Amino acid sequence: MPDRDSVPAADLPARTVRRAGDWAVGNRGPGPDGEDRYFAVSRLCRHQLADLSEGTVDADGCLVCPWHQSRYDVRTGEMVEGPRGFLGYHGPTPGYTQLVRLLGSIARLRVRRATRQGDDVVLE
Ligand code: FES
Repeated sequence: MPDRDSVPAADLPARTVRRAGDWAVGNRGPGPDGEDRYFAVSRLCRHQLADLSEGTVDADGCLVCPWHQSRYDVRTGEMVEGPRGFLGYHGPTPGYTQLVRLLGSIARLRVRRATRQGDDVVLE
């Protein structure tokens, strides 16, 4: 069973997300210095509580929810794009999407610092 506060770096290639206890730990890929940029945010989507450790990281480095594709800025925990659907429906919901995004920009995910330490990515 994985440690609650770390993930083996080998399990976190660029643009992947894994679970560490209550946290979704991910890798945004290399920054300007060539080093991988790791992050950790609380695991439950602000929309309908999907497990964000099962999400993906898009080309902009945002964490994308696996259920309705809400997007999060992992540096702040803010929802920057609202869901595309709700419950089992997946599709356009313009007004609803904007309302949830507004709420998600206020009720942000919690953020922790995640750094490479030896062979692991450790939450601080
Ligand atoms: S549960 Fe995450 S976008 Fe719906």
